[in-house]
Amino acid sequence: MSRQHFPTDYDEFAPTYAWTRSAVPWVVAPLAQLLTALAPRTVVLDVGCGTGNYLRALAEWRPDLLYAGFDISKPMLREAAKRAPQAQYLAADGSRAFPICNQSCGLVFTVDVIHHIDNLATCFSECARVLQPGSRLVFVTDSEETFRQRSLTKFFPEILSIELQRYPSLPSLQQHASAVGLQLLARERAEGWIPLSDEFVTKLAAKCSSAMRLLAPEYHAAGMARVREAQARGEQWRSCYTLLHYGSAFGGGSGLTSA
Ligand SMILES: C[S@@+](CC[C@H](N)C(=O)[O-])C[C@H]1O[C@@H](n2cnc3c(N)ncnc32)[C@H](O)[C@@H]1O
Repeated sequence: MSRQHFPTDYDEFAPTYAWTRSAVPWVVAPLAQLLTALAPRTVVLDVGCGTGNYLRALAEWRPDLLYAGFDISKPMLREAAKRAPQAQYLAADGSRAFPICNQSCGLVFTVDVIHHIDNLATCFSECARVLQPGSRLVFVTDSEETFRQRSLTKFFPEILSIELQRYPSLPSLQQHASAVGLQLLARERAEGWIPLSDEFVTKLAAKCSSAMRLLAPEYHAAGMARVREAQARGEQWRSCYTLLHYGSAFGGGSGLTSA
């Protein structure tokens, strides 16, 4: 099945995104581990950095690295500049040529973005172009496995068919990666549990994810009723991601198990 594009207006979403979303520790930890091998002043690039959640979290671990992020939405970047002022920001489209020099980055990563990228062939080739030889590209995304396991789908089941249409499949990502000489080094699951606190439930009610914003109002309302019932039972919210680690030519595979 070919992918369908479901546009999200991040310019309008930016203020809500800024107060409802933050970096989750189960994604920060594997990214932070990759920083340990980098020399001071190595460039770390976040593609689709949004409000800078992950740049801020990583800069706390390794303040001696150079952080850069780009995003298609200027309002998201304005929030990022407030949240992580130590990074440099650019407005750019991940489906087109990146405004980044050849072989300049020691780590490129992207979190929750590739379902918005129209031209994955260009995105992969640009990632490969900007990576230093032997360095790492990490896509933090979702897969059919994580869609089916995470609480978002449990409480809002109508989201599943939307996600299956808008996300690239793992085999299609593999084809794009192979075409530009990137090798899949590891596929990792990142998972954590979030208490269904009043604050978290308020964020869900504010439609804190692009998938929730695509739901018909009656499905969102029905899902919120299920969330409140689960909150009353003392349940927690399950968050799951798939991390795809790619190595550029000449290595990049040390320290990880093979996929
Ligand atoms: C779900 S948010 C993720 C933001 C950030 N990576 C994070 O995890 O908090 C998706 C981001 O992708 C950006 N985006 C969408 N299409 C893009 C494109 N073609 N090029 C660059 N960024 C894009 C949006 O503006 C938004 O900031």
